[in-house]
Amino acid sequence: MEESKNKQNTLFKQKVKPNNWKRLVIKDTDEKKEYPIEEIRNKVILGDTFKVLKKIDDESFDMVFVDPPYFLQLPSKELRRWTVKTVVEGVNDEWDKFSSFEEYDNFITKLLIEVKRVMKPNATIWVIATYHSIFRIGKIMQDLGFWILNDVIWIKTNPMPNWLGVRFTNATENLIWAVKDKKAKKYTFNKEYARKFGIGKVGANVWVLPLCWGKERLKNDKGKKLHSTQKPVELLKRVILTSTKEGDLILDPVAGTGTTGHVAKALKRDFVMIEINEKYVEGIVERFKKPLKITDDPLPKPKKVNRYLRLEELA
Ligand SMILES: C[S@@+](CC[C@H](N)C(=O)[O-])C[C@H]1O[C@@H](n2cnc3c(N)ncnc32)[C@H](O)[C@@H]1O
Repeated sequence: MEESKNKQNTLFKQKVKPNNWKRLVIKDTDEKKEYPIEEIRNKVILGDTFKVLKKIDDESFDMVFVDPPYFLQLPSKELRRWTVKTVVEGVNDEWDKFSSFEEYDNFITKLLIEVKRVMKPNATIWVIATYHSIFRIGKIMQDLGFWILNDVIWIKTNPMPNWLGVRFTNATENLIWAVKDKKAKKYTFNKEYARKFGIGKVGANVWVLPLCWGKERLKNDKGKKLHSTQKPVELLKRVILTSTKEGDLILDPVAGTGTTGHVAKALKRDFVMIEINEKYVEGIVERFKKPLKITDDPLPKPKKVNRYLRLEELA
């Protein structure tokens, strides 16, 4: 049963077709000196974001979603579950490894400087991270002059279990939502959508939804997760619906499996995505073969969320 489910969801059963690749992907080269927006609208650029961003004009994007490496600082030895002894599949990818906080901070600072330059004056930026790095990122953003509008707490309904029981189960990630600077006033905020998603009557900055799982999760040819940190469609839906309008242009400079662009397209927004790792870009090409159908309704439904948080007991 499990095997046939895996087969059904496995990407790369056939080789990626050259036509699909050409339609969606641009491979960055040193010869390429600039990227006019109309050339890269609704494209994925395979390349190093630091090189690619430099070739894009100032003030090009209406919104930016950044899901940078987490720098989880995991031990080099295999992590095994205390009781059942199976291996914990954490984020142990090369792209998440930095030699020090200083190196990580430099990566984030360099990235945010370039991203800020390509944001339109009233554009907004979302940056997502866990406790491992969100506080460093927040400080860097403030030092660079970004003006923070909100932090959103994402409560995961299916967090990784807490095997050792020596601290609280880590069931949250944070999103920082900001404008380029304090002067930016006319940014997009759809408060009706925010009320739909946020908990309680006020549409609070707390979103309750599961990690990416089941059919949504892209798999490699061995039936394993293609990417260790693929974000859920529902998360990007909330980000995009609250902070952009139809036709807006969204940038994701470290795109992974391309969740941002996939959701943007379904919601009639345009995108530019940059990703350095070819195997993820192949995953994006496969993913884009099936258009996404999205409704405005939040998932899970507010009733379920209230039950999960035991809010009905407070009523
Ligand atoms: C946290 S993941 C993004 C996951 C993505 N949001 C998703 O839903 O799949 C960060 C990504 O940054 C990419 N990355 C790291 N350094 C990069 C660079 N210099 N240029 C482009 N992409 C980079 C990694 O390959 C990785 O896929």
